[in-house]
Amino acid sequence: MSSLKDNITTLKKDRNALILAHNYCLPEVQDIADHTGDSLGLSIIASKADADVIIFCGVTFMAESAKVLNPRKKVLMPEPFATCPMASMCSAEQIIDARKCHKDACVVGYVNTTASAKAEMDICCTSSNAVNIVSSMKEKEIIFVPDMNLGSYVASKAPSKNIILWNGYCPVHQSITVQNISDLKAKYPNAVVVAHPECRSDVLNAADLIGSTEKMIEYAKASDAKEFIVATEIGMKHRLSKECPGKRFHFIDHALCSVMKMTTLSSVLRTLNEMTTEVTLPEDTMERAKGPLKRMIDVK
Ligand code: 13P
Ligand code: SF4
Repeated sequence: MSSLKDNITTLKKDRNALILAHNYCLPEVQDIADHTGDSLGLSIIASKADADVIIFCGVTFMAESAKVLNPRKKVLMPEPFATCPMASMCSAEQIIDARKCHKDACVVGYVNTTASAKAEMDICCTSSNAVNIVSSMKEKEIIFVPDMNLGSYVASKAPSKNIILWNGYCPVHQSITVQNISDLKAKYPNAVVVAHPECRSDVLNAADLIGSTEKMIEYAKASDAKEFIVATEIGMKHRLSKECPGKRFHFIDHALCSVMKMTTLSSVLRTLNEMTTEVTLPEDTMERAKGPLKRMIDVK
């Protein structure tokens, strides 16, 4: 009897499908993906994909970005209700209102937002390029949505800008405390601390490296250290352990993103079988969201 994995591989070929998975997905989902990566990397791959179908294993804002960047492709999500809570913390209407209060400001928006919110932004950014993007803007005043932690981090790295913070946050990264880090440091005193910029500022102050999920992997591979405390979602353990043999990675047990874990091998197989559920967006939203996303990719 063929396994779920074999069935996925066969059907994937028949459908000429490309499977993309975020670094926080379940290990077995990462393993069947053609590419596993961070938000920026996956957006770039999606924008250039020439397969007929893109299967997006992750959360809705990521699949929407893939659709906006490559609108002629069929983008399917095995779990269409996997929505990042931070993306619900900033609507298009709220951005329009904020612009009215800060007439000289531009809007830089984290990709963890809906396509309709992106349509109201000047430019998007991800955790790996946020500092570059903000620094590249001609405006001094910048409304940074929706992540207040990433926004504060960017403000500390771009002191010439006046960053107006939003009230959004990632519940997973917000739940990581500096006490969690010191508890792990007490157990593993030689460990190097790496943290995602969605973490609170006191956690970031305790980190040796602050970076996106992909940046953490690059850093761990290149580092001479043998042990790491990783302040991000626990799905990262899979690639870190696979790609850095002989090194050990310690996570904060409760740092689990339940929406990223919704996609399973069964839901990927069902999607390939039934060719559902497709990401669809209004034409004008796609057209308007494309500018900020493309501008981001051009700055890099
Ligand atoms: P990355 O861009 O680092 O992959 O992060 C995405 C995300 O959702 C972090 O919580
Ligand atoms: Fe959203 Fe946080 Fe999950 Fe990333 S880890 S998808 S920001 S809830």
